[in-house]
Amino acid sequence: MDRYVTEGETPDANSLTELKAEAEHCRRCDLYKHATQMVFGHGPSRARIVLVGEQPGDKEDLAGKPFVGRAGMVLDECLAQADVDRDQCYVTNAVKHFKFEQRGKRRLHSKPNAGEIEACSWWLNNELRLINPKIVVALGGTAAAALLGSSIRVMRDRGKVIQSTLFPPVLVTIHPSYILRIRDRVDAEAEKRAFVRDLSAIGALAT
Ligand code: URA
Repeated sequence: MDRYVTEGETPDANSLTELKAEAEHCRRCDLYKHATQMVFGHGPSRARIVLVGEQPGDKEDLAGKPFVGRAGMVLDECLAQADVDRDQCYVTNAVKHFKFEQRGKRRLHSKPNAGEIEACSWWLNNELRLINPKIVVALGGTAAAALLGSSIRVMRDRGKVIQSTLFPPVLVTIHPSYILRIRDRVDAEAEKRAFVRDLSAIGALAT
């Protein structure tokens, strides 16, 4: 059995371009019904580093690219401070459609459930199969659950590199939007420094 593909499923795609074309027609769960588009991963097909977020937000849903909104700006800043070049990373999400609640004109982020994460893991597993990176970074609980199962606790396990037979090593850390939710500036800066510390391990793990 292929390392990354669930037993019984046969991957069709031989490249990320083919996989993306297949994902555009995804009906594995209902999230496609309300999202603008499927937001596939973005970055070099031979990347040594894969960063996995939760799901596209409002801006990503409209742009069709992951991490282009406020969380993406925090991610970019912290990657730069950790000496990691985002352009060398393949950036993707555990769930590929935006899940939201409509409140008037606003679309408020809504957390994907276990069934949606499981349904979408087909695409994530195949992205990892095709890229075969040295290190995968789980940004937050949804990514950690998709990659490692629900026993991972981000605050307990952050900074750890989890080895498994199914995936390349996975570095667990927080989601950058967690920093945006901290009201106190001093606390937010401290959390940002801790995030940079976690990300600083990537360079050595990617060699
Ligand atoms: N949050 C995510 O998890 N992914 C994105 O692409 C944007 C925000």
